[in-house]
Amino acid sequence: MNMTYDDYREMADYVLQRLPGIPETGLILGSALGPFAGRIEDPVVIDYRDIPHFLVSTAPGHAGKLIYGTVEGKHVLCMSGRFHTYEGYDYEQLVLPVRLFKLVGVKQLILTNAAGAVNTDYHPGDIMIMKDHIKLNGDSPLRGRNIEEFGHRFFDTGRMYTPELRELALQCAEGTPLRVHEGVYMFFTGPQFETPAEIRAARILGADAVGMSTVTEALTAAHCGLPVLALSVMTNMAAGILDQPLTTEEVNEVGRVIADDFSAYMRRIIKAL
Ligand code: HPA
Repeated sequence: MNMTYDDYREMADYVLQRLPGIPETGLILGSALGPFAGRIEDPVVIDYRDIPHFLVSTAPGHAGKLIYGTVEGKHVLCMSGRFHTYEGYDYEQLVLPVRLFKLVGVKQLILTNAAGAVNTDYHPGDIMIMKDHIKLNGDSPLRGRNIEEFGHRFFDTGRMYTPELRELALQCAEGTPLRVHEGVYMFFTGPQFETPAEIRAARILGADAVGMSTVTEALTAAHCGLPVLALSVMTNMAAGILDQPLTTEEVNEVGRVIADDFSAYMRRIIKAL
């Protein structure tokens, strides 16, 4: 991929011309958490395939639409359908969604994902506010020619999961029926679920949850100075913890059961921003 800054501008201008206002918050919703997008009020929907230079989503359960509208009176721009490296995209391509958000002017980004619980004190249905991540495999999305307009070649990641947003998310959890933790997410490329030995290694390294998304987006946001709140839904205990195979059905089922409570939690957070 060899996009110039002007190409990114063209992508963002196409979207801006179709929006009735500037969104305050960008949302990228993970697998099984898509229904939230359907509840955005006064929606303006843009198909990914109509946006110049943008990618097309291939993952099942990911709609491939950009939805502008209001949630609790706040203007949001939501990506229903995200891009994963396991679909075959180059890591460099995975910067596109976040750079689009940056150029349309959002103030912060909320990323959600489904994840496997590595921490044995967690349970399916629990939420983890990501406080940090471990990514030891796969390339960086910021690999390749640096576009200085977005950020410097070398950049800090110490506040990538913005402490103020994490604090706000913790406060918003009070009084909800959800069990909300703060923890470390470890990235695996997928599409296979991890092996039991990989999960034991992840735990030794300090991971509380594992998943195949979010990290490339958070890194892109850190590069261009966009604050991030990332929320993981524990859809299953990670490989080898329980004596049963992991299935997509299990992941989707827990996502479905938690959807209403999780949506209510998201609404509280968006209202409080
Ligand atoms: N591993 C990786 N990604 C996931 C998992 C898992 O156990 N559950 C949901 N997404």
